[in-house]
Amino acid sequence: MDTKIIRMEEQHKDGALIREAGEIIRAGGLVAFPTETVYGLGGDALNPASSRKIYEAKGRPSDNPLIVHIADMESLAAIVKSVPETAKKLAEAFWPGPLTMILEKSDRVPRETTGGLDTVAVRMPSDAVALSFIRAAGGYVAAPSANRSGRPSPTCASYVVQDLDGRIEMILDGGDATLGLESTIVDLTVEPPVILRPGFITGEMLRCTLGQVDEDETLFSSGSGQAPKAPGMKYRHYAPKGELVIVRGAAEAVTAYIGGRLAEGRRNRKKTGVIATDETVDKYKADVPRSVGKRTDAAAAAKGLYRILREFDDEGVELIYSESFDGEGVSQAVMNRLLKAAGHKVINV
Ligand code: TXA
Ligand code: MG
Repeated sequence: MDTKIIRMEEQHKDGALIREAGEIIRAGGLVAFPTETVYGLGGDALNPASSRKIYEAKGRPSDNPLIVHIADMESLAAIVKSVPETAKKLAEAFWPGPLTMILEKSDRVPRETTGGLDTVAVRMPSDAVALSFIRAAGGYVAAPSANRSGRPSPTCASYVVQDLDGRIEMILDGGDATLGLESTIVDLTVEPPVILRPGFITGEMLRCTLGQVDEDETLFSSGSGQAPKAPGMKYRHYAPKGELVIVRGAAEAVTAYIGGRLAEGRRNRKKTGVIATDETVDKYKADVPRSVGKRTDAAAAAKGLYRILREFDDEGVELIYSESFDGEGVSQAVMNRLLKAAGHKVINV
């Protein structure tokens, strides 16, 4: 299949291209599109055959449910059993934006889209291209992140091309994703609501709107013995090809420890990488040293992390050491993804 790649920056005012993308979805095809979090791999959420195609193009297990993207509040009622008060409040506060809500699904949503579940994940993205594309596509676009299964989510169109060229009909190139990490997921089918995946809409923000909101126990640990409630969170995700280890501790001890490990890596002729901050990156003698930005800037780390993980792959890095980014708010989302990328390999120094 020839994948048509369309740059939206100059052309998104041209409704004809968005209409063409929408037509592909209506006809059962697949289009990758930008959102403010990461690029999505879109298909018609109400068409079971489209959802099957998404799983196939991604190489993703079909028990891993998809997020249904909508462009206005009116669309919500058709795909859920009812719209609880909690959902109205969160939509009012955070939609359009990087928040996904889990609700009881209506009969219009096929089980192929929800991975066999009776619940559905719904999100209204804020990206302008995404919104007009969803409308052109008929209002309901099922979309996981537009990466091949096991790769980091793509934050720009060229990474989508790397993973999906030839496997889908079209890629809409809207430039770099402004946030760079996937949406917060909150399960509203339980009381109190539970955060299944941390993101830019933080626990504190959700609690301001709803009162008590819990966190899934598996978000930051691998050893709790619990299965994660978002099926996708159980797979080893976002994994770079090289071995990734997180080093946690006082700043100087971390620098010293990583320095030692890098020297050992060099002796063993391994290609090495480091994930550090502006303050520390020059201290490391790695083949591919990378900074996520200032230590205090969690948003920059969120935006840069997946690009850095992909760069290690492109450079053939075999051994990667990362500083730890513990903290509140967006740091938690960064740490959650980093821990998953590392398969929870953490060394405390
Ligand atoms: O920011 C995002 O959310 C991006 C953009 C494209 O919108 N999408 C995204 O989709 O990250 P994906 O498929 O990579 O991640 C969706 C996550 C998976 O972990 C999946 O298991 C979970 O959402 N999920 C979807 N439906 C669910 C449901 N009914 N119950 C629990 N978890 C669900
Ligand atoms: Mg994903």
